[in-house]
Amino acid sequence: MTQDELKALVGRAALDHVVPGTIVGVGTGSTVNFFIDELAKIKDRIAGAVSSSHRSTERLQAHGIRVLDANEVESLPVYIDGADEIDQRGFMIKGGGAALTREKIVADLAERFVCIADASKLVTTLGRFPLPVEVIPMARAQVARRLARLGGEAVLREGVVTDNGNVILDVRGLSITDPLPMETEINQWPGVVTVGIFARHRASVCLLGTPEGVRTLSF
Ligand code: A5P
Repeated sequence: MTQDELKALVGRAALDHVVPGTIVGVGTGSTVNFFIDELAKIKDRIAGAVSSSHRSTERLQAHGIRVLDANEVESLPVYIDGADEIDQRGFMIKGGGAALTREKIVADLAERFVCIADASKLVTTLGRFPLPVEVIPMARAQVARRLARLGGEAVLREGVVTDNGNVILDVRGLSITDPLPMETEINQWPGVVTVGIFARHRASVCLLGTPEGVRTLSF
């Protein structure tokens, strides 16, 4: 099976986690795109979606799915999104698509985070994938220096401006053995908008696409 076939598989499987009659939290990325295309087939059975990026909003609306502003909802039963890495505890690195801040906001509204990913995303320790950090532009150099003190090498993602008008630093060389304290530490530095460690907002379930079918990991 190709990676795209695995992504399509979990995109379909995620439909089982959609609660009929409710608003669905929708993430961003190539795996989520497959999910959105599946969601379109049952659009009459949901009340709409809250989206984590302009890209996902456009795709949802192109399918005729109503997209609500996050401020219009108090809570969501489920948020469905991909990940760049996920470990055996449901902790994730996200932000490869630069949508991490809005992803964390929508995840925060949700009771459950259902992660959909192909098997290549499952890791023992987070950090092989460069950790994205969304930063207010004037803090870029100082945040990079702070990251260097943690042992990471931060590189500005060239040509990328987030949906919120900020920049992304991609940090190589971190071995994230203890995601929760690292998330807390980096998040409180001046100028950091969001770090791409999802520990406080870890997955409740991961639907992992494998050549043998969908493997469900519960955390
Ligand atoms: C977007 O910013 C990311 O967090 C994505 O959810 C993540 O990069 C997974 O994307 P793919 O499904 O394209 O691998």
